[in-house]
Amino acid sequence: MKIRFELNGDLVDPEIKPDQTLLSLLRDTLGMLGVKEGCSAGECGACSVIVDGELRKSCIMLAAQVDGCNVVTIEGIAYEDGSPNDLQQAFLNHGSVQCGFCTPGMVMASEVLLMDTLEPSRDQIREAISGNLCRCTGYQQIVGAIEETAKHRAKVEEK
Ligand code: FES
Ligand code: FES
Repeated sequence: MKIRFELNGDLVDPEIKPDQTLLSLLRDTLGMLGVKEGCSAGECGACSVIVDGELRKSCIMLAAQVDGCNVVTIEGIAYEDGSPNDLQQAFLNHGSVQCGFCTPGMVMASEVLLMDTLEPSRDQIREAISGNLCRCTGYQQIVGAIEETAKHRAKVEEK
């Protein structure tokens, strides 16, 4: 079957199998290799993407469910010239990226939080990334990067 949806700002209309996961569609069919496959069971958050403004784990969603939707992956959030956006740069500045396997999912979870609030408390930040596991950083650096980005975006909005 064919579906049609917006992926990182472009309309796409791939052929899918009825039982294909969204993760498989994004990685195997559409080449979005920034979407990572970890547990494949909805536990680790490595495969997180944004669907119609909400954080979703693509390994436990069917590809067919995004027919008509707007989907954003890590490939869709960099600046137009391809450089890291402010949040991605903050992850780099804070040492929040070590092996990097969790990073795309962490960044997507953080983007969803920052869509809701630019004044997140530490608890809100921890809650927002609670579905994303990182084996490397101990989380402090990730929380710091999200806080810095929130402050930066709040300042930009003030202007
Ligand atoms: Fe999807 Fe782990 S790969 S939650
Ligand atoms: Fe390695 Fe998070 S940086 S799992």
